[in-house]
Amino acid sequence: MTILVTGGAGFIGSNFVLDWLAGSDETVVNLDKLTYAGNVHNLAPLAGDPRHAFVQGDIGDAGLVAALLAQHQPRAVLNFAAESHVDRSILGPGEFIQTNIVGTFHLLEQVRAYWAALDTPAKTAFRLLHVSTDEVYGSLAASDPAFTETHRYEPNSPYSASKAASDHLVRAYHHTYGLPVLTTNCSNNYGPLHFPEKLIPLMIVNAQAGKPLPVYGDGQQIRDWLYVKDHCSAIRAVLAGGRLGETYNIGGWNEKPNLDIVNTVCDLLDELKPRADLQSYRSQISYVTDRPGHDRRYAIDARKIGQELGWKPTETFETGIRKTVQWYLDNPDWVAQVQSGAYRDWVATQYAQS
Ligand code: NAD
Ligand code: TYD
Repeated sequence: MTILVTGGAGFIGSNFVLDWLAGSDETVVNLDKLTYAGNVHNLAPLAGDPRHAFVQGDIGDAGLVAALLAQHQPRAVLNFAAESHVDRSILGPGEFIQTNIVGTFHLLEQVRAYWAALDTPAKTAFRLLHVSTDEVYGSLAASDPAFTETHRYEPNSPYSASKAASDHLVRAYHHTYGLPVLTTNCSNNYGPLHFPEKLIPLMIVNAQAGKPLPVYGDGQQIRDWLYVKDHCSAIRAVLAGGRLGETYNIGGWNEKPNLDIVNTVCDLLDELKPRADLQSYRSQISYVTDRPGHDRRYAIDARKIGQELGWKPTETFETGIRKTVQWYLDNPDWVAQVQSGAYRDWVATQYAQS
């Protein structure tokens, strides 16, 4: 049996592929465009592993996707591929429309054609799992209840609007064509292999480099943090037992203001890798101009996946953030490669030869 994973060289996708192959012998075909966020070094532990086939390519490339589906006959497609950074979507929304909306549309079209031609047992067993975000629900006030799966879609950034559009397309392909889809909407992930443009890895990396730790606005925006390995186990649970056409919210029950997150990272670094002058890393915190349209609060009500599928996160924020900081301290080469762009040079060399 085989699964096709898209975006499997990114942060969550590569964690998912590594976790999947640690617990299963089911082959993974990994389709990733290798944008700035895709890093083949994330998959280094799988070098030479016949259970992993990496393909550089675009989910919007209909011919390529059709050929991969025909060749590998996957029993499931998991769509992680996306442009994922809110700040980049504010600076330039075009790629977000292209990949998150148009790319998802092309992927759906190819998956629909493939699925329609399967024999009845394969057709019944097939699943398309689309990975989305809690940001499609918009922003909560301090006293609002957490997002449930029936919360109205109110996306506020080009990123979240493009993800919302992709979710609607996935839903429509189920209702119109009967495509067996599952959608997951998760909260902010953190953990190993996280590209240091997002809050937590940026703070860990900047702190050690003696750089300012930029906190947007008053730092009191709230996110609901989910350790990436817990996200991976949730996706496996939804793939295995989710009801067709349903959406599942995934969260870590860890609502925290950004400033608390930054302070926690600083305190852990103070303990694990103190500054030479023994000052706290907190002294590097710098308040900067707020993000335009910055959502104030996200919070996930993850009761549905718990009640229906028996999933719950294993990490508290305290255990997960300690593991994360330690991972970055233990992997300076990964950080250096990402920061120098050396992994991109490697890709250019690799594909120039093929
Ligand atoms: P990421 O930016 O780290 O990785 C995205 C991956 O997709 C990269 O490897 C990139 O090369 C690839 N990609 C981009 N465009 C592509 C295309 N057109 N065709 C094929 N591959 C392409 O993102 P991530 O943090 O791993 O997020 C994965 C998914 O989870 C995304 O759909 C994102 O919206 C969603 N999500 C992420 C978070 C989070 O906290 N990181 C939270 C909620 C939802
Ligand atoms: P981010 O990691 O970009 O995820 P998202 O915007 O998808 O939630 O940001 C998390 C929070 O941290 C968000 O409220 C913006 C804030 N933030 C900062 O304060 N400083 C930073 O340098 C970054 C990257 C984010």
